[in-house]
Amino acid sequence: MLLQTPSFIFVILMAAQAPVVSVEPKAATVRQGESASFRCQVSSGAPPVQVEWRRANNQELPENGKVGPDGSVLTIANARPGNQGQYRCVASNRAGRAAASVVLNVKYAPKVELTPAGPLRVRMGESVSVGCQASGRPRPKLSWKRQGSTLQLVTTETDNVNSLQVKREDSGVYICHAENTEGVAEVKVGVVVEGGLGAPVASVSATEMTVIEGHTVVMECQASGSPTPDITWSKLRAPLPWKHTVSGGVLTLTSVGRQDSGQYICNATNAHGYSEAYTQMEVDSPPYATSLPDQVRLQPGDALHLQCLAHGSHPIQFTWSRVGRPSLPAGSETTRDGKLMIAHIKQSDAGTYKCVATNHVGSSEALARVAIKGKLLVCFTGLESESMILP
Ligand SMILES: *[C@@H]1O[C@H](CO)[C@@H](O)[C@H](O)[C@H]1NC(C)=O
Repeated sequence: MLLQTPSFIFVILMAAQAPVVSVEPKAATVRQGESASFRCQVSSGAPPVQVEWRRANNQELPENGKVGPDGSVLTIANARPGNQGQYRCVASNRAGRAAASVVLNVKYAPKVELTPAGPLRVRMGESVSVGCQASGRPRPKLSWKRQGSTLQLVTTETDNVNSLQVKREDSGVYICHAENTEGVAEVKVGVVVEGGLGAPVASVSATEMTVIEGHTVVMECQASGSPTPDITWSKLRAPLPWKHTVSGGVLTLTSVGRQDSGQYICNATNAHGYSEAYTQMEVDSPPYATSLPDQVRLQPGDALHLQCLAHGSHPIQFTWSRVGRPSLPAGSETTRDGKLMIAHIKQSDAGTYKCVATNHVGSSEALARVAIKGKLLVCFTGLESESMILP
């Protein structure tokens, strides 16, 4: 009886013992395409103990990650850059679980990418920036060269992108070179500078303008270049408006109309080439309203339909009212597109109706006279007359 007690306690301790795991090696570095193996060893713990390998973030193993039959050896075959990271061996039994992690590093040669990819066009006097970004492990060193030269160019590096600034007379092929212990990668980009030294560069005072109908518009164009470029103005897909003058690079349009809206092109030309600059002009006009019909004669009980029409810059809003009265007759309906309707007109609805069309430039009025045939007057004069002239 006395002897039984300690062994009974011992059995309970055995049963309650959680596993203890260790991994070997704790880290491995391989080249892309090589393999790596890690062993997970369970040194104690009450059986049965389950052993499992997972990625550190608790994700599934990659498809090239295989675990041996007893679950203890993890092999990553033909390692890829994406296999880099932590892996965990988790051992568990009824008493608990324990885990240990390993790190796999996968080295690979650089791959380079340019943004924009090119070829690049630079206008005289402007500059362009090309960014070179490389993947690879260890992190590659980046540098820029001009083809046919060994000189390393000055660049700026931000957020792992190495940017080259190309200016004016620097036409040529540029090479971004990326290098690490695993290899070298290069990408080329061609830069074409449009117009050589002395070629014109045109610019306009405004690239966009909105003007009001009837106003006078002045567009200025300036051009650098040597010899001094000649400046001409034209309009895209249309002749210049009839009322225009050009003098010293300045285009003047008097009393512009809506049809003068469009793109105007300044062209500066000299012996080295030409350069174009554009101004987009929109002409806004106040509304011009009319009523259809503008006079109508009806009999009591007839339906009244008036349509207010307007041209001018959109959007246009319409408001109907009755001249000399505070409001429209009861039962009248108006719509957003300018209609006024009275289903059954009465003698008392005769009068003058007014439509006001409004846009952001101005407003315009149109009147419609509505006459109702007066039966009383027909008897008296033998002629139809308008009740609106009666009290
Ligand atoms: C500008 O001038 C050049 C050379 O005279 C010509 O080839 C080009 O078509 C002109 N551009 C326009 C928009 O007129």
